[in-house]
Amino acid sequence: MIVNSAGRIRARIEIPSDKSISHRSLIFNAIADGPATVERILDSEDVRSTAACLSALGVEIDWPSGAPVAHIRGNGMHSLFEADDTLDCGNSGTSMRLLLGLLAGHPILSILTGDASLRSRPMARVIGPLRSMGAQISARKGDTLAPVVVRGGSLRAIDYESPMASAQVKSAIMLAGLYANGPSSVIEPDKSRDHTERMLSAMGAEIAEDGAITRIRPASRLSPLSLRVPGDISSAAPWLVLAAAHPDAELLLEGVNVNPTRTGLLDILRQMGASVERLEERTSGGEPAADLVVRSSQLRGTVVSGSLVPRAIDELPLVAVLACFAEGETVVKDAQELVVKESDRVQSTVDLLTRMGARITPRPDGFVVHGPARLHGARVDGHSDHRIGMLGAIAGALAEGETRIENDAVGVSYPNFWQDLARAAEGGMIKA
Ligand code: S3P
Repeated sequence: MIVNSAGRIRARIEIPSDKSISHRSLIFNAIADGPATVERILDSEDVRSTAACLSALGVEIDWPSGAPVAHIRGNGMHSLFEADDTLDCGNSGTSMRLLLGLLAGHPILSILTGDASLRSRPMARVIGPLRSMGAQISARKGDTLAPVVVRGGSLRAIDYESPMASAQVKSAIMLAGLYANGPSSVIEPDKSRDHTERMLSAMGAEIAEDGAITRIRPASRLSPLSLRVPGDISSAAPWLVLAAAHPDAELLLEGVNVNPTRTGLLDILRQMGASVERLEERTSGGEPAADLVVRSSQLRGTVVSGSLVPRAIDELPLVAVLACFAEGETVVKDAQELVVKESDRVQSTVDLLTRMGARITPRPDGFVVHGPARLHGARVDGHSDHRIGMLGAIAGALAEGETRIENDAVGVSYPNFWQDLARAAEGGMIKA
């Protein structure tokens, strides 16, 4: 795709549905006692991967291509059948890690695989605790990489101290904990996103939260959960950054999930001097939602670290773009998890922005940006990572001249991204 410098930014954008909640709505309802309807489910490649895996395990899912509503007919906690082929999770870490937790409780053999990116991402972080609970699991490269083979069965409860703040790890253990012989717990270094806690509680699971400790009791049944999925703040993030950094911008972002475990970018924007207005605060799908208004802002450098990191983990590459338009130094640290995302997001962010004229240096746990810097158009690589593809597009709309983005992969989480950018960025002509 080719993006040109945008003269003026004005639009009202309906933010696409939350990817994390969409995955969970399928996975959790698959083992509920009865039918559920999920409105505004995200129709993206990642969520389709989850749906295809569950269908292969015998779950009845009615979700025609292009339909905004999915019907899932759960048949109870022990209803999955052995699939007659491997389960392909595509590019989706959430699909693979959460399904491993679910399958750990089922006495069937499953083989999970994915694309080249997913087959290089660490799976030991879920394999370790699920094995301690009693699941038989093997994987490539010393049981660390997919394909992963799991044969589940009766499980022991676990009190697990996770070395990283990861909602995927926590959720895998919580799903397995539903099938365990007693109460389980997960302690994280900092609290990660809490959609699993909210949704499983709403389905009747007994869950207690105490700071970064989450406890879950085994369950014999879950009630189906019908919901309308709110917009994904990670998909609002490119627009928040574009408008805050552009000199002539105002965007209205509709229906954004503002769950406090996800709003780190809003705090970072405030730290950097941008103000984002929240309008029409409401509840949607058991989550707080609001419309956000973001305008051109004078930005200053900041430090992002500690408990802010998991609350903004998927948005941190975009913070590097903001930092290019800010006065002074911006440091992102404590974010070593960036290295094991869909691409090594420290390296891919640094490579992409360096080509466009940024002064950015990598750290093992983040990066340092010296601002302000004049970005210029360039030929850049999205590394087949949706968040990096969108970062390239936003940087391109803010830079002088023309930016050509290869391997953008935006369909993983935001299929209409290019259309929305074309609407928002006047003069920022976009060509395929
Ligand atoms: C997700 C959790 C995060 C996030 C990912 C989605 C989830 O990953 O980066 O995009 O839906 O649970 P980690 O659990 O690896 O931090």
